[in-house]
Amino acid sequence: MSTSKTKDKYQIAIVPGDGIGKEVMEATIHVLDSLGIDFDYVYGEAGDECLERTGTALPQKTLEIIRSCDACLFGAAGETAADVIVKIRQEMKMFANLRPVKSYPNTNALFDNIDFMIVRENTEGMYIADEEEYTDEGAVARRIITRKAEERIIDYAFNYAVENNKSKVTAVHKANVLKKSDGLFKDIFYEVAKRYPDIATEDFYVDATAMYLITQPQNFEVIVTTNLFGDILSDEGAGLVGGLGLIPSANIGHDAALFEPVHGSAPDIAGKGIANPIAMMLSAVMMLKYIGEGEASDRFEEAILKVLNDANILTGDLGGSATTMELAEAVKNNL
Ligand code: NAI
Ligand code: MG
Repeated sequence: MSTSKTKDKYQIAIVPGDGIGKEVMEATIHVLDSLGIDFDYVYGEAGDECLERTGTALPQKTLEIIRSCDACLFGAAGETAADVIVKIRQEMKMFANLRPVKSYPNTNALFDNIDFMIVRENTEGMYIADEEEYTDEGAVARRIITRKAEERIIDYAFNYAVENNKSKVTAVHKANVLKKSDGLFKDIFYEVAKRYPDIATEDFYVDATAMYLITQPQNFEVIVTTNLFGDILSDEGAGLVGGLGLIPSANIGHDAALFEPVHGSAPDIAGKGIANPIAMMLSAVMMLKYIGEGEASDRFEEAILKVLNDANILTGDLGGSATTMELAEAVKNNL
């Protein structure tokens, strides 16, 4: 992610999607509009309602909007999520999936002082889903590890560490069993590390990491790993810091970047105006940093932190009774 300001005016693709996606997006834009930055929002449609209306869940027009803008904010899709978000990631070659794991006050976080980033390879590994038709004997799936993709993600993780004042990068793999594929991943990790002499390194097996995340999560700063391991550890990280309403993510490519909450369209609470907008807001915080508005990013995050610290205006999932827009108003007032 870049950290220097790049423009005076930014074009942001806004894809609210379905259900609470629309509600948390409105709340987030309410705060973005108060930062004193010139945003040009370009709305794109996608998701279940779009499918019903237009016959496709992801119109070509929406892809063009995302491609042409400086960054994209995405809310959530419903049943069409796989056709929408997975397709956007592929089409835009968003090779890095970033999931921050950070504990905030007055949430269900299991520990204080957790603050690390999971950098997950997003294009290959187990999720090429190259499976042979099963036979009487069983089934076979192929897992691909290429030098190009793994070097790209590992370099991204080190660069992220440098730009965000992190001192250590941890590689996670299973090279003791997968000696060729994860052995290669581990070798590339230490090759790339030579280019970043100021960043400390370590590597752990994925099973051990699953335990360390529970026993000593404060020791991690940046984790880089392959696709499947990253998916699993990301959700473990979400469990550590308590609650889908709080977890943002980023999908980064060379030409496009998309920021989205980890949660879905939440049909059980959609339309009631009670969804927690913080995951969407923290996605916007990540976006601001990405486009080079680091100061605004910090200001936005600190305003969220104040609201959580005060604990007067919280949504139902955090034990309060505030509405989505009441929480947004409180964040705005704390900017
Ligand atoms: P979900 O994340 O929508 O909801 C799971 C539970 O968490 C529900 O009880 C919901 O009310 C609660 N929740 C989620 N976000 C919340 C928030 N911001 N504030 C308060 N409570 C919140 O996952 P679920 O129920 O598995 O899927 C619902 C729909 O969303 C499905 O159609 C699924 O395909 C889609 N989905 C879309 C995703 C995306 O667009 N990236 C990701 C995950 C699911
Ligand atoms: Mg997942």
